[in-house]
Amino acid sequence: MEILGVDIGGSGIKGAVVDTKTGELVRPRFRIPTPNPSKPKAVARVVKQLTKHFDWSGTIGVGFPAPVQRGVTLTAANVDDRWIGANAAKLFSEVTGCPVFVINDADAAGLAEMRFGAGRGRMGVVLIVTVGTGLGTALFIDGHLLPNTELGHIEIRGKDAETRASDAARKALDLSWADWTPLFNEYLLTLERLFWPDLIILGGGASKKTEKFLHHLTVTTEVVPAQMLNQAGIVGAALAAELALQRS
Ligand code: BGC
Repeated sequence: MEILGVDIGGSGIKGAVVDTKTGELVRPRFRIPTPNPSKPKAVARVVKQLTKHFDWSGTIGVGFPAPVQRGVTLTAANVDDRWIGANAAKLFSEVTGCPVFVINDADAAGLAEMRFGAGRGRMGVVLIVTVGTGLGTALFIDGHLLPNTELGHIEIRGKDAETRASDAARKALDLSWADWTPLFNEYLLTLERLFWPDLIILGGGASKKTEKFLHHLTVTTEVVPAQMLNQAGIVGAALAAELALQRS
C-alpha cells in the first residue's frame, strides 16, 4: 500500500510516498524547514504543502516529537508549547482533507527499523534510541511496540537526560565526540540497568556518525546503528498509519 509518510522534526519536516510492503520510497523525499515558532497552525500549513508537492489525497502517517494518544500530542519538549493537548490528527486531517494518523517520531523510526532495518527478525527486548534534537526511545518486546516510552527524559545526575546526551546538547555545548561520548554512555548504562534489553539500535542524526563513538560505549548489550538513516521516521509513520487502518 502507498501512504504519505511525514516526519516532523525540530529543524525540518520531511515527507515521501512510502510503499509499506517494501519500505521503499516511491518518490524522493521532500524537506521543508520547520517553521519558527512551530505553532500548530504553521506546522499544519507545511504538512499541507507536502501533500500538494506529492499531489496526495490518500492516507497520511505523521511522526511527531512527543507522546501521542489517539491523535493528541501530550508534551512539547522541542516544539511550541501550544502542541500540548492539541489534536494533531484532527488538525492535519482538516487542513489536508486526508485521513491522518499520528504517532511518536521515535516509535515510528522503531517500527521501520524492526520491519526493514537493524531490528528485522529480532525477538526479545529491543530498544531503539534516536539521537537528534531530542532523545527519543521506542521499546519492542518480541516485535511488539510499547508506545510512548519517553525514556529520553529520565533524570540523570538531577538533569533531564536529553539536555546532557542528545545530539542537540552536543552541538549546543560545543562538545567534541570524545567529550560527549561519556555522557551518552552513562545514559545507555542507565537504560541498560533498568531494562536489560537484548539489543540497542541507535537512530537519528547521530546514527550516521557511530564510527566516532560506538567503540567507546561500555554497555554489555549489543549496540548497532540504525540502517534506515533519515528515512526511518517517514517509513515508520507510513507503517503506523497502515497498522491503524488495519485495526479500524
Ligand atoms: C520527545 C519525544 C521524542 C524525542 C525525539 C523528545 O524530546 O519528548 O517524544 O520522541 O524528543 O524527537
